[in-house]
Amino acid sequence: MASSSQGAGHRAARRRGSGARRVVVALVLLAVVAAVVGLVREARSSGPPPTVAAAVPSSNSVAPSSSAPPTTSTPAPPTTPPAEPTFDRAQQSIDDPNSPWVVVDKARPLAPLDHAPADLVDIGGRQLRAEAAQAMRDMIAAAAAQGLTISVLSAYRSYDYQVDTFRNQVARFGEERAEIQVARPGYSEHQTGLAADVGGGGCDIESCFATTAEGQWVAAHGAEFGYVVRYPDGAQDVTGYKYEPWHVRYVGVPLATELQRTGTRTLEEFFGLPAAPGYPG
Ligand code: DAL
Ligand code: ZN
Repeated sequence: MASSSQGAGHRAARRRGSGARRVVVALVLLAVVAAVVGLVREARSSGPPPTVAAAVPSSNSVAPSSSAPPTTSTPAPPTTPPAEPTFDRAQQSIDDPNSPWVVVDKARPLAPLDHAPADLVDIGGRQLRAEAAQAMRDMIAAAAAQGLTISVLSAYRSYDYQVDTFRNQVARFGEERAEIQVARPGYSEHQTGLAADVGGGGCDIESCFATTAEGQWVAAHGAEFGYVVRYPDGAQDVTGYKYEPWHVRYVGVPLATELQRTGTRTLEEFFGLPAAPGYPG
């Protein structure tokens, strides 16, 4: 009996013990929930963390100090792209036979018709005006540095020389073909001392010059020395002459590079001159 009453006492004590543990666990849980709720409230009431923009005053923001005078923000001026430098197309004469810009074609003879330049110098047994000759030497040297050989085959031609040249061409090819290959005396750029026929790559004064490395180099780099291919392909209705990849004309670096930059084929088009497919009358 004594042992059974002892067992009942122990069971009662265990029940009391487990009831007390449940109370403790419940209290701990309550405390944890209360702590979490408290933390959430605190986080909400303190607001979001400051952003970088809010933390660092911008140059346009008003200074927070009441003692500092209010600053007025000055808007930055609108940025416009720099204007393209305009090219003055009237800076040199296109009529004066001594001007590097002189335009000579079938509608614009030299004036006087028998004009002869005063500053011709020798270049490889031929003659060009001094400035054009120096530019030609520079061009030939630059080509040589690329392994290309360019020769001057014809340059200044006097009025009288052009008389013979034209006559020979008519005798050889007939008048119609001669007219699109060679100028009448008084109408040739060669008479200005600013034009030259160049050759190289095994092709001299023939259309094949356009296919040689020399011809292609001259077309691409001539402007760097003030030279342009004066009678380009497909411009006979403007210039009056068929394609002459060998005939280069000195106009000076500024005009030559402007023609190249703007992709303008002819002097007539650049200066707004009438096309000159044939002689007037
Ligand atoms: N071959 C060019 C057009 C001249 O004779 O001037
Ligand atoms: Zn020529």
